[in-house]
Amino acid sequence: MPDTARQDASATLMARYQRIRAFSEQFCDPLLTEDMGLQACADVSPPRWHLAHTTWFFETFLLKPHLAGYRVFHPQFEYLFNSYYNGIGEQFARPQRHLLSRPTDKDVYAWRQQVDDAMVRLIEQQPGLTGLVTLGLNHEQQHQELLLTDLKYSLSFNPLAPTLGQPLAKADSPAPLSFQSFSGGLVEIGASGQGFAFDNETPRHRVWLEPFTLANRPVSNGEFRAFIEDGGYRRPELWLSDGWAWVQAQHSQRPLYWHEDLDRHFTLAGLQPLHAGQILAHVNYYEADAYARWAGKRLPTEQEWEHAAAAQPLQGHFVENGSYQPGQARDTAMAHLFGDVWEWTASAYLPYPGFQAAVGAVGEYNGKFMCNQMVLRGGSCASSREHLRASYRNFFYPHHRWQFSGIRLAGDPS
Ligand code: AVJ
Ligand code: FE
Repeated sequence: MPDTARQDASATLMARYQRIRAFSEQFCDPLLTEDMGLQACADVSPPRWHLAHTTWFFETFLLKPHLAGYRVFHPQFEYLFNSYYNGIGEQFARPQRHLLSRPTDKDVYAWRQQVDDAMVRLIEQQPGLTGLVTLGLNHEQQHQELLLTDLKYSLSFNPLAPTLGQPLAKADSPAPLSFQSFSGGLVEIGASGQGFAFDNETPRHRVWLEPFTLANRPVSNGEFRAFIEDGGYRRPELWLSDGWAWVQAQHSQRPLYWHEDLDRHFTLAGLQPLHAGQILAHVNYYEADAYARWAGKRLPTEQEWEHAAAAQPLQGHFVENGSYQPGQARDTAMAHLFGDVWEWTASAYLPYPGFQAAVGAVGEYNGKFMCNQMVLRGGSCASSREHLRASYRNFFYPHHRWQFSGIRLAGDPS
C-alpha cells in the first residue's frame, strides 16, 4: 500500500476505535457507582465488568503480543476479566463478578485510558493488525448490547423501576400480518467477503431451500397476549418436552418483564404500559416455538431467514435510537428484519460445512459454543446498526430470554 493510503486506512480505524470505545462509556454515564456492580444472576455481568473485559480483550490479544515494551496495567486483571478463554488461563468465577467492588469504576476508567493510548500507537505502527483490531471493536459492540440487556435484568428486581431510556409513544393496533412466498431452490448463505464477519458466518456455502413463507413483521405484544389468554401456558400440546418442563419448573405464565396484569412491563424507561402494537420481546425459544404452533405456523430456519434478509435494507430500531425497546410493528413488506428484536430460528447453532475456527486462544470466540444453543438473527434495539448484517449469527440457550428476543413466523406454502 502506498504511504498515504496506509495513513488514511489507519486514521479511519483510529476514528472508529475511539468512537466505539467512547460509546461504551456513554452508556455508563447516567449510572451510579452502585449500579456499576449489579449482577442479578450468573448469566449477566455488572456494567463495570463489561467495561473492563472489553479492555482486557485489547490488552490480551493486541497490546501484550504486538506492542513492544507494553506493560500491563495490573497483573491480576488478566485473570479477573478473562471471560472464557482457557488458552489464556484460568478465570475468576463468572457468578461472582458482583463481588468485585475493586477495581473501582475509577480504576477501570484509568485502565481503559492506558489501553486506548497504547492502541493509538499500535494502530499507527502496525497496519497488519487491522483484522484483529476490528474483531476487538465488534467484540466491544457485542458487550455494549450485553451491558444494556444485563443491566435491564438487574434493575428489574428493584421495585423503584429505575429509568434510563425513553418511553415509547403509544402503539395500539399492530399492522396487519401477512406472509410473503419464497420459491426457495439452491441459494448461497454465509459471509459475503465484503466487510467484517465473525468466523461462525463462514464459509459461504450453498443450501437447498424448499418453498416457504415468511411473515412481514415480528409478532406483537397484542398477539402474544391472545396466546396467553387462550391458555397458551397451560396447554402441554403446544410445547416441546423441554419447553413444558421449563414452564412447569418456572411456573411461567408470561414473557419476562411483563406485569401479571398483562397491561404493563418493565423497560429501561421504567414500568410502562404494554402497547398491543409494539413488537414482542423477551421470550425464549420454547415460548417462540409454542406460540408458532398455536398460530398454526413454525419458526424459520436460519437459512430461510438469511435468504429473505439478504435482499432487505438495514432498517429498524437500533441502539442509536435511544429508546432501548423495540418499535411498533409497522405495515411495510418484510419490515424489521434488522434491529428491534433478535428473531429465534428453528436452527441449532452448528458449524457451517468447512468451518475452521481461528488458531490460538481467539479461536475460542465462537466455535466452542456450537452445542445445545439456537441461532437468532437480525439484531435488536440494543444493537448498533453498523454491527449487523444478513449473515450475522447470534446464539443463546433455548431457555434464555433476557436478550431482546422475539418471534417471526414462517410457514410452508399450502
Ligand atoms: C454471541 C452474544 C452469545 O454473549 O458470549 C461476547 C458474544 N462473545 N464476548 C456472548 C460474545 C465474546 C456472545 N454472544
Ligand atoms: Fe467477551
